[in-house]
Amino acid sequence: MERFSCKTNIISGAGAIGVLGELGIRRLFLVTDPFFYENGTAQRVAAAAKADKTHIFHGVQPDPSVELAAKGTAQVLEFRPDTIVALGGGSAMDCAKAMAYFSGGGIRLVAIPTTSGSGSEVTDFSILTHGGVKHPLVDSSIRPDVAILDSDLLEALPKGLIADAGFDVLSHALEALVATGSGAITDALARDAFTAAFSALPASFSGCRAVRLKIHIAAAMAGMAFTQAGLGLCHAMAHSLGGQFHVPHGRLNAILLPAVVSCNAHARGDKYAALARCAGLGGSADTMAVRNLKNGLLRLRRELELPGTLAAAGIDPRQVWQQSGQIVEAVLADPCCATNPIPVEGFMVRRILEAVTGHV
Ligand SMILES: NC(=O)c1ccc[n+]([C@@H]2O[C@H](COP(=O)([O-])OP(=O)(O)OC[C@H]3O[C@@H](n4cnc5c(N)ncnc54)[C@H](O)[C@@H]3O)[C@@H](O)[C@H]2O)c1
Ligand SMILES: [Fe+2]
Repeated sequence: MERFSCKTNIISGAGAIGVLGELGIRRLFLVTDPFFYENGTAQRVAAAAKADKTHIFHGVQPDPSVELAAKGTAQVLEFRPDTIVALGGGSAMDCAKAMAYFSGGGIRLVAIPTTSGSGSEVTDFSILTHGGVKHPLVDSSIRPDVAILDSDLLEALPKGLIADAGFDVLSHALEALVATGSGAITDALARDAFTAAFSALPASFSGCRAVRLKIHIAAAMAGMAFTQAGLGLCHAMAHSLGGQFHVPHGRLNAILLPAVVSCNAHARGDKYAALARCAGLGGSADTMAVRNLKNGLLRLRRELELPGTLAAAGIDPRQVWQQSGQIVEAVLADPCCATNPIPVEGFMVRRILEAVTGHV
């Protein structure tokens, strides 16, 4: 049995933020980060909404903390908006979703992603950091009502962000494909999202703007797949390591994903092999196709100039081993583990850590 629910209205294309003016917003609470406030994009988006009253919260930081969400929630309760608009990457969207949740609900949520990565614009997830651990808040009430995928916001994407966020999309698609909650609809979304992002990322990274909307839509499709199918060990480890070491989420996924594919291939090699064939990575025998998929990920990671180990990402291996007990504990407690195709045990996490830690 597969359950698949549609909620978010998705509007995509150049100039899509114009639809904000059609939503009848009266009291607008805009959540964004300092980058979009200082360059005037937040004010431009607020003007497009044509609200009677506007409050802009522009204090979002990458990997938002529970304290930051609480600060924003107090402002939401005081301002009493009818609509919260999130403008930014996964951090701004997650922060806005948490504020809507902690304010008690009943507020329309509009998400405008500016990175092609998290898929938060269509998911039930908000990832908040507390005490060095990233905690997923998962609730269907925080899936946004409207997602606006405006390619004009992607014109000046830095190369590093294209690469980091791009590997987040690939890992969402690959994890959703083999997750225990996967079904025919989520498989189709994950497959198409993976092949679109995998083929278009090198061109986007080299400066081609024409492919950016394609990757933006793929990010939303991968989000729709994983919010219903679940994620897996790659995300559980990325959450644990991200909470401890503050390396961008997508970069951690890029380091972890090939090793997690090897681990899970014992159970779902058939699905990885079928995906490899769809993505043009071929291989008649399943074992060969899985190897080609893994090699394809390694090749793309190099092409996007992403690190292959935690050490290459600036994390001191000695710290990883000193904190390995905490890291493993946080991985096993992460809800993403529950939908991994193989039940996750401590020794599997340690084996992957050994494979990805690297040397100084
Ligand atoms: N809720 C979900 O479903 C979900 C899924 C995956 C990841 N996440 C979370 O999302 C966060 C990562 O989000 P992200 O990768 O989108 O990055 P981000 O939101 O943390 O942003 C990173 C940096 O990029 C800048 N930036 C964003 N858009 C830009 C643009 N168009 N041009 C120039 N700079 C821009 C931001 O100002 C910020 O400094 C992590 O906290 C992760 O845990 C959430
Ligand atoms: Fe992610």
